[in-house]
Amino acid sequence: MTAPKALVAGNWKMNGLLASREEIKKLNFLVAQGGAGCDVLICPPATLISTLMGKGIDIGAQDCHMALSGAHTGDISAAMLKDLGCHYVIVGHSERRADHGETNDMVKAKASSAQGQGLTAIICVGETDGEREKGATLDVVTSQVTGSIPAEATAENTVIAYEPVWAIGTGKVPTTDDVAEVHGVIRSLLTDRFGPAGATVRIQYGGSVKASNAAELMSVPNVNGALVGGASLKAEDFYGIIKTYQD
Ligand code: 13P
Repeated sequence: MTAPKALVAGNWKMNGLLASREEIKKLNFLVAQGGAGCDVLICPPATLISTLMGKGIDIGAQDCHMALSGAHTGDISAAMLKDLGCHYVIVGHSERRADHGETNDMVKAKASSAQGQGLTAIICVGETDGEREKGATLDVVTSQVTGSIPAEATAENTVIAYEPVWAIGTGKVPTTDDVAEVHGVIRSLLTDRFGPAGATVRIQYGGSVKASNAAELMSVPNVNGALVGGASLKAEDFYGIIKTYQD
């Protein structure tokens, strides 16, 4: 089975105003000029999704509620994201697990809701600094992967993003050996779960990815793209990461 096509996704988090449409225009221009040897996705804040649709770059979301509609003030459902034309939604980002107390069961229900609407769920996993120091990385990642993938998920509508919490926004990155080890474990969990099709599920690395370290990180076995925070906010920086798949 051939390696899956990489997915380089930008997670803008709670950043971006209407003026950020300019960055998407620039990014479209850069991708149109220079090409991309990978799939490219931007997940802006929900307020910008509809304003960025149809401009070339695939636009996804950062979260969805587990229910499709109802009395959930302030929340957004997978049905609403589908309605806007999204194909992807991030679920279980560590910032949501920490800030909103999201458990594996909640992440699983969100992924299930998204997949039920025909969206691909980008399910985030990753250990904290404390867990890493205790040597619990593989146990934490294993329980998050197995606990967050819905029963009815398929290899086609699932992406896993491995984001060590201590590497997010800190400029610290794991060694390539550490990334290879964790991604290898995730790959075997995916083949246990999906059979041979598990080899086609994309496993992104996220945490302080930038143009200067992307080539090294993206060349690690079982790394099929990146989930990028800070370096996705400026089109030139983000394209510097995308471009590693062209070289
Ligand atoms: P940074 O790239 O800013 O470290 O953020 C990573 C991340 O959390 C992407 O979801």
